[in-house]
Formats: sequence, structure tokens, C-alpha cells
Amino acid sequence: MSVSWNDLIAHDARVLVASEIRDLLKVAERPEVISFAGGVPDPDLFPVETFSEIYGAMMQDGAQARRSLQYSVSEGLPALRQWIVDDLADQGATRTIDNVLITNGAQQGLDILARLLLEEGRDLIVEKPSYLGAMQAFSTRLPNYVGVDAEDEGPVLSQLEDAFAKGARVAYVAPDFQNPTGRSWSVARRKAVLELARRYGAVLLEDAAYSKLSYEGGESLPSLLSLDEEGRDPASGNVIQLGTFSKTLAPALRIGWVCAPRPVIDKLVLMMQAGNLHVSTVNQEAALRAAKQLFPDHLEKLRASYRTKRDVMLQTLADTMPDDVSWTKTEGGMFVWLTLPEHINARQLLEEALEDVHVAFVPGQAFFTDGSGKNTARLSFSAEKVDRIKDGITRLADLIKRKDNQ
Ligand SMILES: Cc1ncc(COP(=O)(O)O)c(C=O)c1O
Repeated sequence: MSVSWNDLIAHDARVLVASEIRDLLKVAERPEVISFAGGVPDPDLFPVETFSEIYGAMMQDGAQARRSLQYSVSEGLPALRQWIVDDLADQGATRTIDNVLITNGAQQGLDILARLLLEEGRDLIVEKPSYLGAMQAFSTRLPNYVGVDAEDEGPVLSQLEDAFAKGARVAYVAPDFQNPTGRSWSVARRKAVLELARRYGAVLLEDAAYSKLSYEGGESLPSLLSLDEEGRDPASGNVIQLGTFSKTLAPALRIGWVCAPRPVIDKLVLMMQAGNLHVSTVNQEAALRAAKQLFPDHLEKLRASYRTKRDVMLQTLADTMPDDVSWTKTEGGMFVWLTLPEHINARQLLEEALEDVHVAFVPGQAFFTDGSGKNTARLSFSAEKVDRIKDGITRLADLIKRKDNQ
């Protein structure tokens, strides 16, 4: 008798369905397609030589090689956690290594936090729109999404307060150069959101994946973690921050971290033990050496390169798009968010863009939990070359103008 998978697959795993857009975007991998879809780092900026030296040196040193190839503790290497604590301290967030857990990318942090804090029907506040990958992790727990509209300064406070007042106690937020909009919250909004969370005893899951990719010079805006004074006590605080080396060193390292009050870390460590024991020892060691060796110069190099690409994308949008299209003037990260006239469906536009002008992007609807955003799109400038960004935006603008005139 054959297995009846439909009956066997667990209730909460049934929500996992392949995205139709993902299939469509397979075409975007063809060389003739100019792709603003990916949202991945520019591979030309990977510090390949440094990693070659680091891995080589580790393997040539017998004792180090044996340590790096061995199992290690589920919390993550103490020296790497200390580096993260020092880096957080530089940003004004005083924490201890007992507040830091190393994860397989920030994505695993999202997954284990979802398992820790969510359950079927429990309210989860998300910004509209929000990072798709986070919602994929959350959705397996079947939460009740409570969407909060976003303004340029940050989430609409009255909506957030309403959600807290109705009982929601967990919010997923990205105050720095958000994926997908590229928006950053103002300092005043950060403080106000934290104040609300404190008043209602709520937790803010702060996704800081892009926080170091700031292109406007000067100091980065204070993170929610750094503003959360209560978190100076290792056992308290209203903010859990997710970080990663994926955008600043290389995503294939799969090194991220969760910084959280100790009771949260204690549970997450047990989940790591049950799930995959720990993050690759050799990659943790390599990431630590690379960060020590390369930062902050490498970060400056990344910022300079992405800043140029961002400038070219924004300028070309301004030069070519019709008046009824608007976009975010992103100050960091990898994304620009396009709002098209109501009559244009971005999903259909993608099909035509792939077919007619060989340009790819991600239709914005995928980033909303309530099916809205049909006339929005996410454009990433990180991985394409400058001349192709210019060319791709111009072609997309021509296509939109043609549709406007139809
Ligand atoms: C906002 C955001 N959070 C988390 C992640 C996951 O990153 P990681 O590679 O560290 O798992 C991404 C990746 O694109 C992201 O954009």
C-alpha cells in the first residue's frame, strides 16, 4: 500500500507551499535577464583572498585545525560571541556573552524564535510589508498575523498600540533599511515603539540584517536593542535582536546570532541542541578571524560600492519613470520599493518584463500577509552592475509607460 502523504504530513507543515513567483523567477537566472529580484550580496565584494588565507592558516596549524574540525558548544564559540558583544557595545548596547547565541544565519534565529514564541492563533504583529523569509518561518507556527501599516518614519503608532491593547505581545520589526522597502525608522519612532512595548510587556524581534549597510555617512541610528536600557540586566529587556554576517562577509558562512535576555537564550540553546547541535565550528572561527581582520575597512568598501549602485538606481528611476510611479529613497541596505499606479498588477508586469524586456523584480504582494500590495514591487540594486542597473530600470520604465498608455 502506498503512503498517503496528504494524511501523513502534519497540520502545521501543510502551510509550506512552493512559491509560484520563485518558479517564475527561475528565468531571472538567464544571463540576458537583468535581475533586480535577488537581494543577494555582490559576489565580487566577497573577501575571497582573506578567506583563502584564513582557512589555509587554520588547517596548517595542527592543534587549531583539530579544534576547528571538532564539535563545539551549542551556544557558539565564546570568542565569536565576545566579538559580537564588543561590537554591540560599540553601538551602545551593553550585553554579556550569555545573551548571545550563534545560529545558522539569522534565518535559523527566526525559525527557533518562531518555535519559542509562537503557537497556533497567537497574535504576531508584522509591518506591512515584511521580510518574506521571516513570514515563512513564522507561518509554520500558524500565528494570527496582525499587520501594521508603515510610514516613512516607521510603523503607525496608533495601529501598533491597538494591537498591543488587544493582546498581541510579539512584534517582528526591521528598523534599519528594511527588506523589502529599504525604509529606516526615525529615532523618535524607535523610542516610541520601544516605549509601547515596555508599557504592554511585549517583545520586539528586531531584525538587524542590514544595519551596517548605511550609505549616508555618520553614525547609524540607535538600534532598539541599544535603546532598551532594561536589557542591560542580562535576564530582562523587551528586545531580541537578530544579526548576521551574510550581508557583511558572506552568506555561505551561515553565521548569524540572536541577542536576547538570558531566559530566552537558555531555551534557544536547547533548541539548537535538538536541531543541529551547533553552527559549523570551522566557519565560526573563520568568520571571527575575518571580522577581526577586515572590519571596519571592508564595511567601508561595501558601503561605497552599494552606495554607487543605489545612487544609479534612484537617479535612473527619477530620470525615466512616469509621474504616477513612486519609490522609497532608501538610505542603506539593498532595496528600493516601487509603488505603481493602481491599475498595474506587479505580478502581471513581471511576466511581461521577463518576456518583453528581460528584467526581473519581485512583485510586492508576496511581502504582505493580507494579500494587499498588488501594485508594488521590490527592486534590489546589490548584485547587478551599474550599467545594467541603468539599462534595466530604463527598460522597465518603458514597459510601464506603454502599460500606462494602454
Ligand atoms: C531581513 C532579513 N533577515 C534575515 C535574513 C536571513 O539572513 P541569513 O543569511 O543570515 O540567514 C535575510 C536574508 O536575506 C533578510 O533579508
